[in-house]
Amino acid sequence: MPSAVCPGSFDPVTNGHLDVFARAADVFDEVVVAVLENKSKAGLFTVEERIQMLQEVVAPYPNIKVEAFHGLLVDFCAARSIKSIVKGLRAVSDFDYELQMAQMNFRLAGVETFFVSANPLYSYLSSSLIKEIAKYGGDVSGLVPDILLARLNAALAK
Ligand code: PNS
Repeated sequence: MPSAVCPGSFDPVTNGHLDVFARAADVFDEVVVAVLENKSKAGLFTVEERIQMLQEVVAPYPNIKVEAFHGLLVDFCAARSIKSIVKGLRAVSDFDYELQMAQMNFRLAGVETFFVSANPLYSYLSSSLIKEIAKYGGDVSGLVPDILLARLNAALAK
């Protein structure tokens, strides 16, 4: 299989995201983790910080790379001749929005979306929930890569 894109905000990356990347990398020759640069929405981490953390956590996977993107995802795909997107589906609540985006991306540029069923170990995870738990001193170890724990606390302390 050629290449696929795993797009998202990744503010921050969770073990659920990492599970999807690894499974995509098992099927596709190359996986590009594409981090959305959203100028109208400030995150907890800058895009540069997210990319740095993602690069560290995907380092064990030689066929995964990380890039930033802005604008339409299908344009990012076209510029790299990539025809596949891989997303994780955690629950039925993800489905409506993900289906709509998948159909639109196919309509716009014929880019296919493949869904990976979330690992039940991580299906309740979201970046927002991680930030909220960590903000109030909850323990998120095991839910995000270990290298993020100190950085999460430092970013929240700012
Ligand atoms: O992690 P997120 O925020 O749920 O990721 C959403 C993302 C980045 C995949 C989606 O917002 C996206 O693809 N944005 C790029 C702009 C775009 O192409 N919009 C049309 C989608 S059909």
